[in-house]
Amino acid sequence: AFVCSAEKTVVIGLAADSGCGKSTFMRRLTSVFGGAAEPPKGGNPDSNTLISDTTTVICLDDYHSLDRTGRKEKGVTALDPRANNFDLMYEQVKAIKDGVAVEKPIYNHVTGLLDPPELIKPPKILVIEGLHPMYDSRVRDLLDFSIYLDISNEVKFAWKIQRDMAERGHSLESIKASIEARKPDFDAYIDPQKQYADAVIEVLPTQLIPDDNEGKVLRVRLIMKEGVKHFAPVYLFDEGSTISWIPCGRKLTCSYPGINFFYSPETYFSNEVSMLEMDGQFERLDELIYVESHLSNLSTKFYGEVTQQMLKHSDFPGSNNGTGLFQTIVGLKIRDLYEQIVAERAAASVAAAKL
Ligand code: ADP
Ligand code: G6P
Repeated sequence: AFVCSAEKTVVIGLAADSGCGKSTFMRRLTSVFGGAAEPPKGGNPDSNTLISDTTTVICLDDYHSLDRTGRKEKGVTALDPRANNFDLMYEQVKAIKDGVAVEKPIYNHVTGLLDPPELIKPPKILVIEGLHPMYDSRVRDLLDFSIYLDISNEVKFAWKIQRDMAERGHSLESIKASIEARKPDFDAYIDPQKQYADAVIEVLPTQLIPDDNEGKVLRVRLIMKEGVKHFAPVYLFDEGSTISWIPCGRKLTCSYPGINFFYSPETYFSNEVSMLEMDGQFERLDELIYVESHLSNLSTKFYGEVTQQMLKHSDFPGSNNGTGLFQTIVGLKIRDLYEQIVAERAAASVAAAKL
């Protein structure tokens, strides 16, 4: 079929371990693109897909080649490439990018089985989220932008304890054991993908409270690759400088332990990057406008858009700290990237029509 190149789908990859805030990130992202994403209407209620006017988010667990029983029998985890069908992942992401609808499998997280497939039509923006969006080089090459959510072990542990102990009644020992069991495969197959990411959001324990192990106050780093087409890294005050900023003066209410920003050029896996860090948390979210006004290259459409987005979703986890702030900023940068790609294609097709 002939497909107008101006309408080709833009493909975004989001990699992270399970339970590390991908769904929260997706809700912030689709909100920036305009409109909440919802499960497909009238389909399988256990579908992992989210659809909005502009964006379709698919979960890469749907490309498990082994179901829960199969994994148990073969003794492999879901993180193991042998439990995943990268040929099909590549074929289908490529087809969608070329404007062709596909019948994508569904991995049912409730039953642990593979359900009958669902039809995925090419959207304007396709987000592939999951454990392996940058693992296979063919899939990686299809990505117009890639993000890795890097949650440090300490923080992962703290979040898992909050959720699994409080909500699911698991014991501390069993949570520790399940994290330890996943770790070798996580280190071998998931973590190395961060070297390919255009943006990494790193979540670490705070340095503002000595020996903190609560995992409530966070130090969050936004690592942005230099030289990526259609992506100009955000900066604080003066591009390329090294700046440490404690904004708790006359304009910002800060209680213990305060807020610390840091901005600096760095090297990350032998790539030049810009790094913006926020340690601590906001006391009053409406005052975020003060921080926003000191950041540049935010790709906002109007003054205060970052603050507005953060206020709109103040009930999401991480809204008072760098996780929410940087997820929102990455959302704005992706919207900008998408608009630049579309404008570039439109200009190219006008030029082609003149020949
Ligand atoms: P995923 O989609 O990767 O499984 P979710 O977005 O559902 O992750 O988040 C899983 C859990 O992790 C949430 O219920 C919450 O407890 C915790 N969490 C996620 N993001 C944050 C955050 N920024 N700050 C604190 N806790 C978070
Ligand atoms: C990961 C995968 C899921 C999988 C889960 C448990 O979180 O993303 O798809 O269901 O591991 O795997 P298990 O083999 O225990 O069912």
